[in-house]
Amino acid sequence: MPQTARITKAVIPAAGLGTRFLPATKAMPKEMLPVVDEPAIQYVVAEAAKAGLDNVLMITGRSKRALEDHFDRVPHLEAVLEAKGDERRLAAVQESNNLGDIHYVRQSDPQGLGHAVLCAKRHVGNEPFAVLLGDDLIDARDELLSEMIRVQQAVGGSVIALMEVDPAQVSAYGCADVEAVEGEDFVRVRGLVEKPAPEDAPSNLAVIGRYVLHPAVFDVLERTAPGRGGEIQLTDALETLAGAEGEGSGVHAVVFRGRRYDTGDKVSYLKAVVSLAVEREDLGDELRPWLKEFAAGL
Ligand code: UTP
Repeated sequence: MPQTARITKAVIPAAGLGTRFLPATKAMPKEMLPVVDEPAIQYVVAEAAKAGLDNVLMITGRSKRALEDHFDRVPHLEAVLEAKGDERRLAAVQESNNLGDIHYVRQSDPQGLGHAVLCAKRHVGNEPFAVLLGDDLIDARDELLSEMIRVQQAVGGSVIALMEVDPAQVSAYGCADVEAVEGEDFVRVRGLVEKPAPEDAPSNLAVIGRYVLHPAVFDVLERTAPGRGGEIQLTDALETLAGAEGEGSGVHAVVFRGRRYDTGDKVSYLKAVVSLAVEREDLGDELRPWLKEFAAGL
């Protein structure tokens, strides 16, 4: 039976150690790294709000403070900008305060993404919910989350997002074994494997950081033993749900063909900054000719 409860909650895990981005992430979560002039996580919260999810639970770690401060008001700074009549910067400062109702829970010992999602159990309760990874950016011009919500509301169970990657890259991701669903543009997930060796990968379809999950995932996560890297893997719990029957089981996937950036990876982060900056009205005109000249000299 499809689970038809309306989806209003978004969970954003941001408690990882961010070791790929050291030393920048020594005292600051990688989700706070600026992509042009907004921290990566602000794009993610804005994406959730755009899909109608304005009840946000952030899973934070040791650097909770920077995240909380960013989504809070700064009366003194706002007063200074107001007194100067700097409406543009005032609006930029206030934008992140109005994206939704943001809650925080701390994952004091980061034991993996599955463990981070489990920290949301009490807040979420018994309704389907979205998970957006705080270091994964989906270009605002491309639709993904609303499509995943539509699929979850139609077929129930859980819905993941997949993206085709170069087969040599698949070992950096969770990888899905899928089959077509007749007459539909989404697919059914038969199985999932976390970071397989290329020769063991069932496809070149990689799991990316957007999920719409049935609350049945919590019970499964509680029973999921640490997997790859000694971490409790969300992919392992979804693999269990994909093969199970009954209430809350079943996993479908939307194959995303738009623009996505992993801001936890240095090269992908740099690509995100450049791609988004050249599109900006206030920066593009100056940046584009410089970039062309720079590239010509490489
Ligand atoms: P990553 O797999 O990118 O792990 O997490 P990481 O530890 O943050 O980064 P590296 O590999 O050491 O550089 C994917 C998402 O899950 C969150 C991260 O914050 C990121 O948004 N996460 C991961 C948690 O919230 N808790 C965890 O225990 C692990």
